[in-house]
Amino acid sequence: MISPVSDAAERGRHLVVAIDGPAASGKSSTAQWVASELGVRHVDSGALYRAATASALRRESESALWTEDFVLSAAADVTLVPGDTTFHARLAGASIEAELRGSDVTSRVFLVAKMPRVRAWVSALVQQAAEGYAVVVDGRDIGTVVFPQARLKIFLVADARERAKRRLIQRLERQPSETEVAAETTALVHRDAKDESQTQQAVDAVLIDTTYLTQEEQVQRIVALARQVGRSPGVDAG
Ligand code: CDP
Repeated sequence: MISPVSDAAERGRHLVVAIDGPAASGKSSTAQWVASELGVRHVDSGALYRAATASALRRESESALWTEDFVLSAAADVTLVPGDTTFHARLAGASIEAELRGSDVTSRVFLVAKMPRVRAWVSALVQQAAEGYAVVVDGRDIGTVVFPQARLKIFLVADARERAKRRLIQRLERQPSETEVAAETTALVHRDAKDESQTQQAVDAVLIDTTYLTQEEQVQRIVALARQVGRSPGVDAG
């Protein structure tokens, strides 16, 4: 069993599990579940890009006018607050989960994610959150840029149609129609293209195709890999 967070904090060298992959590949929900199985905390780096976007949108609804300086100043209102099992992105101290997942933010977040100083801001916040704790972090460049030294790197992929279906079921809380799946698949493929440059599989990442896996199966695979890494010499699993 991987040591819980409190033990980890005392020991100083900590396990980082990096989970990257394209839109709706199940990174966040998987990372959250894996973290809870391991008794460590989850960090969702995408939530920080989304929170910076939400803050920029509140100040200026016309995203064509956003400069990098403007977005960075809007991002100053964003904080990453530790909870029991996950870190929460807050805007002006408040939880804004629905706003983060809404279509206004989703359709503009790629603009913010392309800004190098915004990327550096997210990386620094995530690295700070991980200081002193074992963490499972999900995003797109976690295994390549944010934690290139992570001892376990996972790259999750799934067929675009399957990803679209999962995202719709999560959003609509019912089975989607064929037309809805087709439209969402097209939207996802467009988002993939916009995010392509920052969605990087590390050379030492374990590729998991989840198209035909249940979420529990993918979680159990990652947990098993994390336990193996946690037992290997020179690694503090907590
Ligand atoms: O909806 P999905 O799960 O794909 O996205 P997310 O993980 O919430 O991330 C939202 C957006 O933030 C992505 O579409 C990327 O543009 C950006 N992102 C990034 O560039 N690098 C990361 N490490 C995480 C997210």
